[in-house]
Amino acid sequence: MTEAITSETMVLPRRHLLTGMLAAGAMVGTEVVTTPAFAQAPPILEGKVAIVTGGTSGIGATTVGVLAQAGAKVAFNGRREALGRQVASRLRAAGGDVVYIRSDVREAQQVEHFVAETLERYGRLDIAFNNAGIDLPPAPIADTDITGFDDQIATNLRGVFLAMKYELPHLVSSRGVIINMASIGGRHAFPNIVAYGASKAAVIHMTRAAAQEYGKRVRINAIAPGAIETPMLERVRRDWRVTTEQLVAPYPMGRVGTPEEVASLIVFLASDASSYINGHVIGIDGGDLA
Ligand SMILES: NC(=O)c1ccc[n+]([C@@H]2O[C@H](COP(=O)([O-])OP(=O)(O)OC[C@H]3O[C@@H](n4cnc5c(N)ncnc54)[C@H](OP(=O)(O)O)[C@@H]3O)[C@@H](O)[C@H]2O)c1
Repeated sequence: MTEAITSETMVLPRRHLLTGMLAAGAMVGTEVVTTPAFAQAPPILEGKVAIVTGGTSGIGATTVGVLAQAGAKVAFNGRREALGRQVASRLRAAGGDVVYIRSDVREAQQVEHFVAETLERYGRLDIAFNNAGIDLPPAPIADTDITGFDDQIATNLRGVFLAMKYELPHLVSSRGVIINMASIGGRHAFPNIVAYGASKAAVIHMTRAAAQEYGKRVRINAIAPGAIETPMLERVRRDWRVTTEQLVAPYPMGRVGTPEEVASLIVFLASDASSYINGHVIGIDGGDLA
């Protein structure tokens, strides 16, 4: 039986990892957005090991699949255990080498354990996508709930700091890469989301500082998406009482982005194709705000 497994049959499952919506392109409103080339990637990350924080849904879950399709072994976390196991078994059934390790990015010991477990299982670390984040319903500063403020800073900012703290020693050894999740909300000031905006602006600053500290061994960049079609965007539409059309009106391309388009950027930043890009924040938003 072993002889029957040719290199061609070994490669096939990876091509099937992200079938369905992704294979044909994603529906965005009434438009079909063609899946970017990197989201249907050849195995350009073969032999690499990646960590994704917040991989149970949205951009993180899609990126776990696309990194696996590109050949990486991927460990991801998130707090929703049943969902994490479900995402992992779906991707494993399709041929990906991925593992879900339950952990909360706000808790130092859990992040340390997440990184240690990844090293224990896969033996190295090359790529870290520090993506986990939360949003809360909008409110002006005087009405902003203090616990909610603290939670957003703890997740979106402290969570990225903790991840980098425990990832960096391993990435220094492997000459790896970090991609931190910021947001257009960290580049432009929007009203009524002060904690979210401040946390993402701080992620951008921390990314630039980290690139100064580690530039000789680790490439560290941030991405700043605009409106991407995920469960978070569903909450934004509900909490802000806005339509998709209203949300995207100020952007030149006038549509939301897909998680696959973001995952494609992550594969690019994780690969040698971006070997001289370091310490930058890359917008992925259909064009800067009008
Ligand atoms: N969608 C957009 O338009 C947009 C735009 C700009 C930036 N972003 C950023 O993109 C990132 C992903 O968001 P998304 O849009 O994909 O939304 P999402 O579907 O809500 O995903 C958020 C992910 O973060 C995880 N997470 C939240 N708190 C966590 C914690 N304490 N520990 C570990 N994981 C945690 C969630 O997992 P659990 O709930 O299982 O813990 C989930 O997997 C966020 O940082 C967000 O700020 C999104």
